[in-house]
Amino acid sequence: MNENNELKRVSDSRVDTVFTVLPEDTNMYGNLFGGKLVEWIDRTAAIVAVRHARKNVVTANIDNISFLEPIKLGDIVILKAWINYAGNTSMEIQVDIYTEKISTGKLAMASRAYLTYVAIDENNRPVPVPKLMLENEDEIKRFKEAEERKKIRLELKKMVR
Ligand SMILES: CC(C)(COP(=O)(O)OP(=O)(O)OC[C@H]1O[C@@H](n2cnc3c(N)ncnc32)[C@H](O)[C@@H]1OP(=O)(O)O)[C@@H](O)C(=O)NCCC(=O)NCCS
Repeated sequence: MNENNELKRVSDSRVDTVFTVLPEDTNMYGNLFGGKLVEWIDRTAAIVAVRHARKNVVTANIDNISFLEPIKLGDIVILKAWINYAGNTSMEIQVDIYTEKISTGKLAMASRAYLTYVAIDENNRPVPVPKLMLENEDEIKRFKEAEERKKIRLELKKMVR
């Protein structure tokens, strides 16, 4: 049971961030380091979680990330992030990553990630977050899918402990 009775929209916390790939972000072949992309993903998604919770948050989980397209030196990289799910204290944030073609402005999807954040108090204990107001079919679908992923994550966590 969620003890936080506040309701928030997905659109209240949505974040887009834009980066350009610099030489220090790439390996010797001019490809963006996977770890650098994960850093950008985590930093972007954390802003969504903080905006939703208006509390400090910690990363509880980052799902496996597929790198669909190489991201190269000089590319413009756009990360679009929003909340799919708010539980009692946890939130699932989705980040879709695109490269923007400099000549045309066309976006190509490069990667997708799901991250779970937990809102915490001053003693680092989980605290309730606002519930999510689902406003359309897409948001309802994403919420339900996130609930399913949460079950899988918690099962996988049991294997680590
Ligand atoms: C994340 C953390 C606060 C969870 O603490 P906990 O004692 O396991 O808390 P709970 O069991 O009460 O779980 C709290 C919520 O997190 C969710 N959760 C916990 N571990 C999870 C995981 N691995 N994946 C997905 N959700 C998880 C729970 O389902 C619960 O969600 P709900 O309240 O919405 O139902 C704690 O493990 C922690 O502080 N971890 C370190 C975080 C950190 O340092 N991150 C940076 C890593 S570099």
